[in-house]
Amino acid sequence: MAKSKKKTFLTDVKTLRKRARQHIEQGAVTQGYKGKRETVLKLLNEALATEIVCVLRYKRHYFMASGIHAQSVAAEFLQHANEEQGHADEISQRIVQLGGAPNLSPDGMLSRSHSEYVEGESLVDMIKEDLVAERVAIDSYREMIEYVRTDDPTTRRMLEGILAMEEEHAEDLATLLAELR
Ligand SMILES: [Fe+2]
Ligand SMILES: [Fe+2]
Repeated sequence: MAKSKKKTFLTDVKTLRKRARQHIEQGAVTQGYKGKRETVLKLLNEALATEIVCVLRYKRHYFMASGIHAQSVAAEFLQHANEEQGHADEISQRIVQLGGAPNLSPDGMLSRSHSEYVEGESLVDMIKEDLVAERVAIDSYREMIEYVRTDDPTTRRMLEGILAMEEEHAEDLATLLAELR
């Protein structure tokens, strides 16, 4: 019983080999890819814009941080900026693997992004804005993961890794905010 079930569940080797030889120009995107590629690419490009906007906002905050607590907070801003850049790179690489092109055009970047670019006046304002942006990113990554589900495990794993780091960022910022109060 279990054996016959397994047979209908897995593709036989001959078919697998034959399929792999077709459309080899599509690289990592095989016939077995279950995601809606265009939708996944669109979501990934929105996530990319979000990450770039976050890099820019954190960089601005890093250079503009001033006051008695500025040094340690600025160091945190810089670390987050670098990690958001790392996310942007991961996402770009995945977009290319899926046969798309990363949209890095400054034109419309802010409207593609989920999070906003708010400069903030004081150190506390900056931290608050960054925390809000992280919370936006956390919810949008969670939704993307739910959308991708089992259709594209590689993209899902990448998004899960990024989500975990955005949660760490939010936690860091909430701690900083509590310390400054
Ligand atoms: Fe990020
Ligand atoms: Fe983040």
